[in-house]
Amino acid sequence: MGYGLGIDLGTTFTAAAVDSAGHVEMVSLGDRTAAIPSVVLLRADGGVLVGDAASRRAAVEPDRVAREFKRRLGDPTPVLLGGAPHSVASLMAHLLGYVVRTVTGRQGGRPDRITLTHPANWGPYKRELFEQVPRLTGIDRVGLITEPEAAAAHYAAQERLDDGAVVAVYDLGGGTFDATVLRKRGSGFEILGTPEGIEGLGGVDFDEAVFGHVDRALDGKLSQIDPDDAGAVAAIVRLRQECVLAKEALSADTETAVPVLLPSVQTEVRLTRGEFEEMVRPSITATIGSLHRALRSANLRPADLGAVLLVGGSSRIPLVSQLVSAELGRPTAVDIHPKYGVALGAAALASGRSGLVQATRSQPAIRPVAPPPQPDVPRVPAPREETRVQATPGFGAGAPPPSLGRGKADGSTPARRASRRGVVIGLCAVAAVAIGGVAVAVSSSGGGSAGTTTTPPAPSSASETPTLVTLASPEEPQTTHATVVPPRTNPPATTRHKTPPRTTTPTRTTTPTTTTTPTTTTSAKPTT
Ligand SMILES: Nc1ncnc2c1ncn2[C@@H]1O[C@H](COP(=O)(O)OP(=O)(O)OP(=O)(O)O)[C@@H](O)[C@H]1O
Ligand SMILES: [Mg+2]
Repeated sequence: MGYGLGIDLGTTFTAAAVDSAGHVEMVSLGDRTAAIPSVVLLRADGGVLVGDAASRRAAVEPDRVAREFKRRLGDPTPVLLGGAPHSVASLMAHLLGYVVRTVTGRQGGRPDRITLTHPANWGPYKRELFEQVPRLTGIDRVGLITEPEAAAAHYAAQERLDDGAVVAVYDLGGGTFDATVLRKRGSGFEILGTPEGIEGLGGVDFDEAVFGHVDRALDGKLSQIDPDDAGAVAAIVRLRQECVLAKEALSADTETAVPVLLPSVQTEVRLTRGEFEEMVRPSITATIGSLHRALRSANLRPADLGAVLLVGGSSRIPLVSQLVSAELGRPTAVDIHPKYGVALGAAALASGRSGLVQATRSQPAIRPVAPPPQPDVPRVPAPREETRVQATPGFGAGAPPPSLGRGKADGSTPARRASRRGVVIGLCAVAAVAIGGVAVAVSSSGGGSAGTTTTPPAPSSASETPTLVTLASPEEPQTTHATVVPPRTNPPATTRHKTPPRTTTPTRTTTPTTTTTPTTTTSAKPTT
Protein backbone atom coordinates (compact mmCIF):
# COMPACT_ATOMS: atom_id res chain seq x y z
CA MET A 1 0.00 0.00 0.00
CA GLY A 2 1.29 3.44 -0.86
CA TYR A 3 2.20 5.96 1.75
CA GLY A 4 3.23 9.56 2.16
CA LEU A 5 6.44 10.41 3.95
CA GLY A 6 7.02 13.56 5.97
CA ILE A 7 10.55 14.47 7.01
CA ASP A 8 11.68 17.09 9.50
CA LEU A 9 15.38 17.71 9.01
CA GLY A 10 16.06 19.54 12.25
CA THR A 11 19.15 21.38 13.38
CA THR A 12 19.87 18.81 16.07
CA PHE A 13 17.46 15.94 15.40
CA THR A 14 15.83 14.49 12.31
CA ALA A 15 12.45 12.77 12.41
CA ALA A 16 10.17 11.12 9.86
CA ALA A 17 6.53 10.02 9.82
CA VAL A 18 4.41 8.09 7.36
CA ASP A 19 0.78 8.39 6.44
CA SER A 20 -0.70 5.20 5.09
CA ALA A 21 -4.41 4.96 4.42
CA GLY A 22 -5.09 7.80 6.76
CA HIS A 23 -3.05 6.39 9.62
CA VAL A 24 -0.13 8.60 10.50
CA GLU A 25 2.72 7.50 12.72
CA MET A 26 6.36 8.13 13.40
CA VAL A 27 8.98 5.92 11.83
CA SER A 28 11.84 4.71 13.97
CA LEU A 29 14.88 5.96 12.14
CA GLY A 30 16.88 4.19 14.78
CA ASP A 31 16.16 0.71 16.00
CA ARG A 32 14.75 2.02 19.26
CA THR A 33 14.16 5.67 18.68
CA ALA A 34 12.20 7.75 16.25
CA ALA A 35 14.49 10.73 15.84
CA ILE A 36 18.19 10.54 15.08
CA PRO A 37 20.82 13.19 15.65
CA SER A 38 21.38 15.40 12.61
CA VAL A 39 25.03 14.42 12.41
CA VAL A 40 27.05 13.38 9.36
CA LEU A 41 30.62 12.12 9.29
CA LEU A 42 32.49 11.71 6.03
CA ARG A 43 35.30 9.21 6.36
CA ALA A 44 38.57 9.38 4.51
CA ASP A 45 37.72 6.17 2.63
CA GLY A 46 34.54 7.72 1.26
CA GLY A 47 32.24 6.08 3.77
CA VAL A 48 29.42 8.11 5.22
CA LEU A 49 28.17 7.81 8.76
CA VAL A 50 24.86 9.29 9.84
CA GLY A 51 23.32 9.72 13.28
CA ASP A 52 24.85 8.15 16.35
CA ALA A 53 27.48 6.26 14.41
CA ALA A 54 28.70 9.61 13.19
CA SER A 55 28.77 10.92 16.76
CA ARG A 56 30.70 7.92 17.99
CA ARG A 57 33.15 7.97 15.13
CA ALA A 58 33.80 11.61 15.89
CA ALA A 59 35.83 10.35 18.82
CA VAL A 60 38.58 9.35 16.43
CA GLU A 61 37.81 11.59 13.46
CA PRO A 62 36.66 14.85 15.03
CA ASP A 63 37.57 16.94 12.03
CA ARG A 64 35.29 14.88 9.79
CA VAL A 65 32.03 15.32 11.67
CA ALA A 66 29.39 17.91 10.82
CA ARG A 67 26.61 19.00 13.18
CA GLU A 68 24.05 21.78 13.29
CA PHE A 69 24.80 22.48 9.64
CA LYS A 70 21.19 23.41 8.95
CA ARG A 71 21.91 26.68 10.71
CA ARG A 72 24.57 27.36 8.12
CA LEU A 73 22.48 26.96 4.99
CA GLY A 74 23.13 30.04 2.90
CA ASP A 75 26.52 30.68 4.45
CA PRO A 76 28.92 30.94 1.51
CA THR A 77 31.74 29.44 3.57
CA PRO A 78 31.77 25.70 2.99
CA VAL A 79 31.96 23.20 5.82
CA LEU A 80 35.47 21.81 6.03
CA LEU A 81 35.56 18.08 6.70
CA GLY A 82 38.90 16.36 6.62
CA GLY A 83 40.26 19.48 4.99
CA ALA A 84 37.83 19.27 2.06
CA PRO A 85 35.02 21.77 1.51
CA HIS A 86 31.42 20.56 1.56
CA SER A 87 28.22 22.45 0.98
CA VAL A 88 25.54 22.40 3.61
CA ALA A 89 23.12 21.13 0.98
CA SER A 90 25.29 18.07 0.32
CA LEU A 91 25.46 17.29 4.04
CA MET A 92 21.69 17.59 4.32
CA ALA A 93 21.43 15.33 1.29
CA HIS A 94 23.36 12.61 3.13
CA LEU A 95 20.94 12.93 6.02
CA LEU A 96 17.91 12.90 3.74
CA GLY A 97 19.23 9.94 1.80
CA TYR A 98 19.64 7.97 4.99
CA VAL A 99 16.11 8.78 6.11
CA VAL A 100 14.53 7.81 2.80
CA ARG A 101 16.49 4.55 2.63
CA THR A 102 15.64 3.70 6.21
CA VAL A 103 11.94 4.40 5.80
CA THR A 104 11.86 2.54 2.51
CA GLY A 105 13.40 -0.46 4.23
CA ARG A 106 11.03 -0.27 7.18
CA GLN A 107 7.93 0.17 5.01
CA GLY A 108 8.96 -2.36 2.40
CA GLY A 109 8.68 0.08 -0.44
CA ARG A 110 9.34 3.60 -1.49
CA PRO A 111 6.98 6.44 -0.60
CA ASP A 112 4.52 7.74 -3.14
CA ARG A 113 5.40 11.21 -2.16
CA ILE A 114 7.71 13.03 0.24
CA THR A 115 7.15 16.31 2.03
CA LEU A 116 10.18 18.09 3.47
CA THR A 117 9.78 20.87 5.98
CA HIS A 118 11.78 24.04 6.49
CA PRO A 119 11.54 27.13 8.72
CA ALA A 120 8.85 29.57 7.65
CA ASN A 121 11.16 32.52 7.65
CA TRP A 122 13.63 31.14 5.19
CA GLY A 123 13.70 33.50 2.25
CA PRO A 124 13.87 32.57 -1.43
CA TYR A 125 17.65 32.14 -1.33
CA LYS A 126 17.66 29.53 1.41
CA ARG A 127 14.62 27.80 -0.01
CA GLU A 128 16.32 27.49 -3.36
CA LEU A 129 19.38 26.01 -1.70
CA PHE A 130 17.14 23.64 0.24
CA GLU A 131 15.46 22.53 -2.97
CA GLN A 132 18.84 21.23 -4.10
CA VAL A 133 18.87 18.74 -1.24
CA PRO A 134 16.40 16.20 -2.69
CA ARG A 135 17.99 16.64 -6.10
CA LEU A 136 21.41 15.85 -4.68
CA THR A 137 19.90 12.83 -2.99
CA GLY A 138 18.48 11.64 -6.28
CA ILE A 139 14.87 11.52 -5.16
CA ASP A 140 11.98 13.38 -6.62
CA ARG A 141 8.25 13.82 -6.23
CA VAL A 142 9.18 15.92 -3.28
CA GLY A 143 7.25 18.89 -1.95
CA LEU A 144 8.36 21.51 0.52
CA ILE A 145 6.26 23.08 3.21
CA THR A 146 7.02 25.25 6.18
CA GLU A 147 7.46 23.65 9.58
CA PRO A 148 4.64 25.66 11.24
CA GLU A 149 2.19 24.74 8.50
CA ALA A 150 3.02 21.09 9.04
CA ALA A 151 2.69 21.46 12.81
CA ALA A 152 -0.65 23.25 12.41
CA ALA A 153 -1.88 20.50 10.08
CA HIS A 154 -1.04 17.90 12.71
CA TYR A 155 -2.79 19.94 15.39
CA ALA A 156 -5.88 20.45 13.22
CA ALA A 157 -6.04 16.70 12.63
CA GLN A 158 -6.39 16.19 16.35
CA GLU A 159 -8.26 19.21 17.62
CA ARG A 160 -11.38 20.74 16.15
CA LEU A 161 -10.57 24.12 14.63
CA ASP A 162 -13.27 26.31 13.13
CA ASP A 163 -12.78 27.87 9.76
CA GLY A 164 -11.11 31.24 10.25
CA ALA A 165 -9.57 30.24 13.58
CA VAL A 166 -6.15 31.78 14.10
CA VAL A 167 -3.31 29.97 15.84
CA ALA A 168 0.31 30.82 16.45
CA VAL A 169 3.04 28.22 16.16
CA TYR A 170 5.88 28.78 18.62
CA ASP A 171 8.73 26.47 17.59
CA LEU A 172 11.70 26.32 19.93
CA GLY A 173 13.91 23.51 18.72
CA GLY A 174 17.54 22.57 19.10
CA GLY A 175 19.05 25.34 17.05
CA THR A 176 16.49 27.94 16.07
CA PHE A 177 13.32 29.66 17.18
CA ASP A 178 10.44 30.40 14.82
CA ALA A 179 7.09 32.13 15.37
CA THR A 180 4.33 31.97 12.78
CA VAL A 181 0.69 33.02 12.76
CA LEU A 182 -1.72 30.96 10.69
CA ARG A 183 -5.41 31.05 9.89
CA LYS A 184 -7.52 27.99 9.23
CA ARG A 185 -8.96 28.39 5.80
CA GLY A 186 -11.13 25.66 4.43
CA SER A 187 -9.27 22.46 5.02
CA GLY A 188 -5.89 24.18 5.02
CA PHE A 189 -4.01 27.04 6.61
CA GLU A 190 -2.62 30.30 5.39
CA ILE A 191 0.30 32.13 6.93
CA LEU A 192 -0.62 35.60 8.14
CA GLY A 193 1.91 38.41 8.24
CA THR A 194 5.61 37.69 8.34
CA PRO A 195 7.00 34.73 10.25
CA GLU A 196 9.62 35.77 12.76
CA GLY A 197 12.63 33.91 14.01
CA ILE A 198 15.75 34.01 16.09
CA GLU A 199 18.52 32.20 14.36
CA GLY A 200 21.01 30.63 16.68
CA LEU A 201 18.68 30.26 19.63
CA GLY A 202 17.68 26.80 20.71
CA GLY A 203 18.37 23.89 22.99
CA VAL A 204 22.08 23.82 22.28
CA ASP A 205 22.36 27.29 23.73
CA PHE A 206 20.59 26.16 26.90
CA ASP A 207 23.00 23.22 27.09
CA GLU A 208 25.83 25.71 26.92
CA ALA A 209 24.31 27.70 29.77
CA VAL A 210 24.20 24.59 31.96
CA PHE A 211 27.80 23.79 31.07
CA GLY A 212 28.78 27.33 32.02
CA HIS A 213 27.01 26.90 35.34
CA VAL A 214 29.02 23.74 36.06
CA ASP A 215 32.25 25.43 35.01
CA ARG A 216 31.65 28.30 37.38
CA ALA A 217 30.76 25.94 40.19
CA LEU A 218 34.15 24.29 39.58
CA ASP A 219 36.00 27.62 39.53
CA GLY A 220 36.67 27.44 35.81
CA LYS A 221 38.32 24.02 35.84
CA LEU A 222 36.52 23.02 32.65
CA SER A 223 37.96 25.95 30.78
CA GLN A 224 41.45 24.94 31.89
CA ILE A 225 41.36 21.45 30.43
CA ASP A 226 44.47 20.54 28.48
CA PRO A 227 43.37 19.82 24.92
CA ASP A 228 46.14 17.26 24.61
CA ASP A 229 44.84 15.26 27.53
CA ALA A 230 42.64 12.77 25.73
CA GLY A 231 41.15 11.46 28.97
CA ALA A 232 40.16 14.92 30.13
CA VAL A 233 38.76 15.84 26.76
CA ALA A 234 36.66 12.67 26.68
CA ALA A 235 35.42 13.50 30.17
CA ILE A 236 34.39 16.95 28.99
CA VAL A 237 32.41 15.39 26.16
CA ARG A 238 30.63 13.12 28.62
CA LEU A 239 30.03 16.06 30.88
CA ARG A 240 28.36 17.95 28.06
CA GLN A 241 26.08 15.00 27.50
CA GLU A 242 25.25 15.09 31.19
CA CYS A 243 24.42 18.78 30.88
CA VAL A 244 21.88 17.98 28.14
CA LEU A 245 20.33 15.26 30.28
CA ALA A 246 20.20 17.56 33.29
CA LYS A 247 18.50 20.26 31.26
CA GLU A 248 15.90 17.82 29.97
CA ALA A 249 15.41 16.30 33.44
CA LEU A 250 14.53 19.72 34.79
CA SER A 251 11.48 19.79 32.57
CA ALA A 252 10.03 17.05 34.71
CA ASP A 253 11.87 17.49 37.99
CA THR A 254 12.61 20.56 40.04
CA GLU A 255 16.17 19.67 40.89
CA THR A 256 18.96 17.58 39.41
CA ALA A 257 22.69 17.03 39.71
CA VAL A 258 25.30 16.99 36.97
CA PRO A 259 27.94 14.32 37.60
CA VAL A 260 31.48 15.51 36.94
CA LEU A 261 34.06 12.80 36.32
CA LEU A 262 37.19 14.61 35.23
CA PRO A 263 40.61 13.08 35.88
CA SER A 264 41.31 15.98 38.23
CA VAL A 265 37.95 16.27 39.95
CA GLN A 266 35.08 13.94 40.71
CA THR A 267 31.99 15.58 42.08
CA GLU A 268 28.50 16.59 41.12
CA VAL A 269 27.02 20.01 40.64
CA ARG A 270 23.47 20.62 41.77
CA LEU A 271 21.11 22.54 39.54
CA THR A 272 17.56 23.54 40.39
CA ARG A 273 14.84 24.33 37.91
CA GLY A 274 14.75 27.83 39.32
CA GLU A 275 18.44 28.34 38.60
CA PHE A 276 18.04 26.97 35.10
CA GLU A 277 15.05 29.18 34.46
CA GLU A 278 16.98 32.27 35.39
CA MET A 279 19.66 31.26 32.88
CA VAL A 280 17.22 30.86 30.01
CA ARG A 281 14.60 33.44 30.92
CA PRO A 282 16.14 36.25 28.80
CA SER A 283 16.20 33.99 25.78
CA ILE A 284 12.61 32.84 26.25
CA THR A 285 11.52 36.42 26.80
CA ALA A 286 13.18 37.27 23.49
CA THR A 287 11.20 34.51 21.76
CA ILE A 288 7.98 36.00 23.06
CA GLY A 289 9.03 39.39 21.69
CA SER A 290 9.51 37.64 18.38
CA LEU A 291 6.04 36.12 18.63
CA HIS A 292 4.57 39.56 19.34
CA ARG A 293 6.26 40.91 16.21
CA ALA A 294 4.82 38.09 14.14
CA LEU A 295 1.38 38.96 15.50
CA ARG A 296 1.82 42.66 14.79
CA SER A 297 2.91 41.93 11.24
CA ALA A 298 -0.38 40.08 10.82
CA ASN A 299 -2.29 43.04 12.32
CA LEU A 300 -3.55 40.83 15.08
CA ARG A 301 -3.64 41.02 18.86
CA PRO A 302 -2.94 38.12 21.19
CA ALA A 303 -6.66 38.01 21.96
CA ASP A 304 -7.27 37.03 18.34
CA LEU A 305 -5.39 33.77 18.83
CA GLY A 306 -7.36 30.62 19.48
CA ALA A 307 -4.26 28.90 20.80
CA VAL A 308 -0.50 28.96 20.73
CA LEU A 309 0.93 25.63 19.56
CA LEU A 310 4.21 24.88 21.27
CA VAL A 311 6.44 22.94 18.93
CA GLY A 312 10.05 21.73 19.17
CA GLY A 313 11.83 19.78 21.87
CA SER A 314 12.79 22.86 23.87
CA SER A 315 9.12 23.78 24.23
CA ARG A 316 9.04 21.12 26.91
CA ILE A 317 10.79 23.53 29.25
CA PRO A 318 7.95 24.45 31.62
CA LEU A 319 8.95 28.10 31.65
CA VAL A 320 8.09 28.30 27.95
CA SER A 321 4.40 27.52 28.27
CA GLN A 322 4.29 29.49 31.51
CA LEU A 323 5.69 32.68 29.99
CA VAL A 324 3.90 32.34 26.67
CA SER A 325 0.57 31.88 28.37
CA ALA A 326 1.19 34.67 30.87
CA GLU A 327 2.45 37.12 28.23
CA LEU A 328 -0.21 36.43 25.65
CA GLY A 329 -3.04 35.40 27.89
CA ARG A 330 -3.87 32.58 25.53
CA PRO A 331 -3.94 28.85 26.13
CA THR A 332 -0.99 26.86 24.93
CA ALA A 333 -1.07 23.43 23.35
CA VAL A 334 1.96 21.19 23.51
CA ASP A 335 2.15 17.73 22.04
CA ILE A 336 3.39 14.85 24.17
CA HIS A 337 6.22 14.73 21.66
CA PRO A 338 6.59 18.32 20.48
CA LYS A 339 9.43 17.24 18.23
CA TYR A 340 7.16 14.95 16.22
CA GLY A 341 4.34 17.31 15.27
CA VAL A 342 6.15 18.71 12.26
CA ALA A 343 6.98 15.30 10.78
CA LEU A 344 3.48 13.95 11.48
CA GLY A 345 1.84 16.93 9.82
CA ALA A 346 4.21 16.70 6.89
CA ALA A 347 3.34 13.02 6.43
CA ALA A 348 -0.36 13.81 6.26
CA LEU A 349 0.42 16.46 3.68
CA ALA A 350 2.58 14.08 1.69
CA SER A 351 -0.27 11.60 1.49
CA GLY A 352 -2.56 14.30 0.19
CA ARG A 353 -4.93 13.55 3.04
CA SER A 354 -4.65 17.01 4.52
CA GLY A 355 -6.44 19.88 2.93
CA LEU A 356 -3.20 21.80 2.81
CA VAL A 357 -2.33 20.11 -0.42
CA GLN A 358 -5.40 21.63 -1.96
CA ALA A 359 -4.74 25.02 -0.41
CA THR A 360 -5.76 28.11 -2.28
CA ARG A 361 -4.22 28.50 -5.68
CA SER A 362 -2.97 31.97 -4.88
CA GLN A 363 -0.81 30.64 -2.10
CA PRO A 364 -0.35 26.91 -2.42
CA ALA A 365 0.87 25.26 0.72
CA ILE A 366 3.17 22.67 -0.74
CA ARG A 367 5.74 23.78 -3.24
CA PRO A 368 6.98 21.02 -5.50
CA VAL A 369 10.67 20.55 -6.00
CA ALA A 370 11.59 20.16 -9.63
CA PRO A 371 12.76 16.60 -10.09
CA PRO A 372 16.42 15.79 -10.62
CA PRO A 373 18.71 16.03 -12.25
CA GLN A 374 20.18 18.91 -14.04
CA PRO A 375 23.13 17.17 -15.63
CA ASP A 376 25.51 19.58 -13.97
CA VAL A 377 24.22 18.97 -10.47
CA PRO A 378 26.46 16.43 -8.82
CA ARG A 379 24.57 13.85 -6.83
CA VAL A 380 25.48 12.78 -3.38
CA PRO A 381 26.75 9.25 -3.84
CA ALA A 382 24.27 6.65 -2.75
CA PRO A 383 25.37 3.83 -0.53
CA ARG A 384 26.50 0.60 -2.03
CA GLU A 385 24.58 -2.52 -1.27
CA GLU A 386 26.57 -3.28 1.84
CA THR A 387 24.77 -0.46 3.60
CA ARG A 388 24.12 -1.75 7.05
CA VAL A 389 23.05 -0.83 10.48
CA GLN A 390 26.05 -0.70 12.73
CA ALA A 391 24.75 -0.03 16.17
CA THR A 392 21.48 0.52 17.87
CA PRO A 393 21.82 2.51 21.03
CA GLY A 394 18.85 4.35 22.36
CA PHE A 395 18.67 7.87 23.70
CA GLY A 396 21.10 8.32 26.48
CA ALA A 397 23.02 5.20 25.59
CA GLY A 398 26.64 5.58 26.40
CA ALA A 399 28.10 6.32 23.05
CA PRO A 400 31.84 6.69 23.19
CA PRO A 401 32.54 10.37 23.47
CA PRO A 402 34.15 12.15 20.60
CA SER A 403 37.74 12.95 21.32
CA LEU A 404 39.30 16.13 20.15
CA GLY A 405 42.36 14.66 18.64
CA ARG A 406 42.63 17.55 16.28
CA GLY A 407 44.90 19.21 18.78
CA LYS A 408 47.49 16.52 18.41
CA ALA A 409 47.66 16.80 14.71
CA ASP A 410 48.81 20.35 14.48
CA GLY A 411 51.92 20.26 16.59
CA SER A 412 51.59 21.19 20.21
CA THR A 413 53.27 24.03 21.94
CA PRO A 414 52.24 25.33 25.35
CA ALA A 415 51.05 28.59 23.85
CA ARG A 416 49.01 26.86 21.20
CA ARG A 417 47.61 24.48 23.75
CA ALA A 418 46.49 27.37 25.89
CA SER A 419 44.86 29.13 22.99
CA ARG A 420 43.18 25.93 21.95
CA ARG A 421 41.42 25.40 25.25
CA GLY A 422 38.52 27.53 24.21
CA VAL A 423 38.38 25.64 20.94
CA VAL A 424 38.34 22.36 22.81
CA ILE A 425 35.41 23.46 24.89
CA GLY A 426 33.60 24.55 21.76
CA LEU A 427 34.37 21.35 19.92
CA CYS A 428 33.19 19.35 22.88
CA ALA A 429 30.02 21.37 22.75
CA VAL A 430 29.14 20.42 19.25
CA ALA A 431 30.28 16.88 19.83
CA ALA A 432 27.93 16.34 22.70
CA VAL A 433 24.65 17.57 21.32
CA ALA A 434 23.45 14.33 19.86
CA ILE A 435 22.88 11.73 22.51
CA GLY A 436 20.66 9.19 20.93
CA GLY A 437 19.28 7.42 17.98
CA VAL A 438 20.69 4.77 15.79
CA ALA A 439 23.29 5.17 13.18
CA VAL A 440 24.03 3.60 9.93
CA ALA A 441 27.30 3.20 8.23
CA VAL A 442 27.15 3.49 4.52
CA SER A 443 29.94 3.18 2.09
CA SER A 444 29.89 5.49 -0.83
CA SER A 445 33.42 5.11 -1.99
CA GLY A 446 32.26 3.44 -5.11
CA GLY A 447 30.37 6.46 -6.27
CA GLY A 448 26.74 6.70 -7.10
CA SER A 449 24.79 3.56 -7.68
CA ALA A 450 22.41 3.05 -10.49
CA GLY A 451 19.79 4.18 -8.11
CA THR A 452 20.91 7.74 -8.27
CA THR A 453 21.76 8.22 -11.90
CA THR A 454 18.44 7.60 -13.57
CA THR A 455 17.45 10.14 -16.13
CA PRO A 456 14.73 12.22 -14.58
CA PRO A 457 11.36 13.12 -15.96
CA ALA A 458 10.79 16.58 -17.28
CA PRO A 459 10.77 19.29 -14.63
CA SER A 460 7.41 20.17 -13.24
CA SER A 461 5.68 23.22 -14.49
CA ALA A 462 5.61 26.28 -12.32
CA SER A 463 2.34 27.41 -13.73
CA GLU A 464 -0.80 27.85 -11.68
CA THR A 465 -2.13 24.55 -12.91
CA PRO A 466 -1.49 21.59 -10.66
CA THR A 467 1.23 19.55 -12.24
CA LEU A 468 1.70 15.85 -12.62
CA VAL A 469 5.14 14.96 -11.43
CA THR A 470 6.48 11.48 -11.93
CA LEU A 471 8.90 9.86 -9.59
CA ALA A 472 11.84 8.48 -11.46
CA SER A 473 12.50 5.05 -10.11
CA PRO A 474 16.04 3.79 -10.46
CA GLU A 475 15.14 0.20 -9.89
CA GLU A 476 11.75 -0.06 -11.48
CA PRO A 477 9.67 1.65 -14.11
CA GLN A 478 7.77 4.75 -13.22
CA THR A 479 4.42 3.63 -12.04
CA THR A 480 2.93 6.26 -9.82
CA HIS A 481 2.00 9.86 -10.10
CA ALA A 482 1.20 12.61 -7.70
CA THR A 483 -0.67 15.81 -8.15
CA VAL A 484 1.14 18.78 -6.81
CA VAL A 485 0.47 22.46 -6.81
CA PRO A 486 2.79 25.09 -8.26
CA PRO A 487 5.32 26.99 -6.23
CA ARG A 488 4.30 29.71 -3.84
CA THR A 489 4.00 32.92 -5.77
CA ASN A 490 4.25 35.24 -2.85
CA PRO A 491 6.65 33.80 -0.31
CA PRO A 492 6.84 35.28 3.15
CA ALA A 493 9.69 37.66 3.65
CA THR A 494 12.57 36.57 5.79
CA THR A 495 13.01 38.39 9.03
CA ARG A 496 15.75 37.40 11.35
CA HIS A 497 16.93 38.90 14.55
CA LYS A 498 20.18 38.51 16.28
CA THR A 499 20.47 35.99 19.03
CA PRO A 500 19.80 37.67 22.33
CA PRO A 501 22.72 37.77 24.70
CA ARG A 502 23.12 34.47 26.45
CA THR A 503 22.75 34.69 30.18
CA THR A 504 24.95 32.15 31.79
CA THR A 505 25.32 33.51 35.29
CA PRO A 506 23.07 31.40 37.41
CA THR A 507 21.04 33.07 40.06
CA ARG A 508 20.68 31.22 43.29
CA THR A 509 16.98 30.53 43.33
CA THR A 510 16.04 27.80 45.68
CA THR A 511 12.31 27.79 45.10
CA PRO A 512 11.63 25.96 41.89
CA THR A 513 9.01 27.38 39.63
CA THR A 514 6.15 25.13 38.74
CA THR A 515 4.19 25.30 35.53
CA THR A 516 0.78 26.75 35.95
CA THR A 517 0.02 27.52 32.34
CA PRO A 518 -3.18 25.92 31.10
CA THR A 519 -1.76 23.48 28.63
CA THR A 520 -3.53 21.19 26.27
CA THR A 521 -1.66 17.99 25.69
CA THR A 522 -2.21 16.11 22.48
CA SER A 523 -1.04 12.69 21.45
CA ALA A 524 1.45 12.13 18.67
CA LYS A 525 1.10 8.38 18.24
CA PRO A 526 4.79 7.56 17.93
CA THR A 527 5.65 4.00 17.13
CA THR A 528 8.23 3.88 19.84
N1 LIG B 1 12.24 17.41 27.98
C1 LIG B 1 12.99 18.37 27.42
N2 LIG B 1 13.26 19.51 28.10
C2 LIG B 1 14.05 20.46 27.56
N3 LIG B 1 14.60 20.37 26.34
C3 LIG B 1 14.35 19.26 25.63
C4 LIG B 1 13.54 18.21 26.12
N4 LIG B 1 13.47 17.23 25.18
C5 LIG B 1 14.22 17.65 24.15
N5 LIG B 1 14.75 18.86 24.42
C6 LIG B 1 15.67 19.63 23.58
O1 LIG B 1 15.04 19.89 22.33
C7 LIG B 1 16.06 20.06 21.36
C8 LIG B 1 15.70 19.25 20.14
O2 LIG B 1 14.44 19.71 19.70
P1 LIG B 1 14.00 19.48 18.19
O3 LIG B 1 14.30 18.07 17.82
O4 LIG B 1 12.61 19.98 18.08
O5 LIG B 1 14.99 20.47 17.45
P2 LIG B 1 15.43 20.46 15.91
O6 LIG B 1 14.23 20.23 15.07
O7 LIG B 1 16.59 19.56 15.73
O8 LIG B 1 15.98 21.95 15.79
P3 LIG B 1 15.42 23.17 14.93
O9 LIG B 1 13.92 23.10 14.93
O10 LIG B 1 15.95 24.35 15.70
O11 LIG B 1 16.02 23.04 13.58
C9 LIG B 1 17.36 19.59 21.98
O12 LIG B 1 18.13 20.71 22.34
C10 LIG B 1 16.90 18.83 23.21
O13 LIG B 1 17.85 18.85 24.25
MG1 LIG C 1 12.64 21.59 14.43
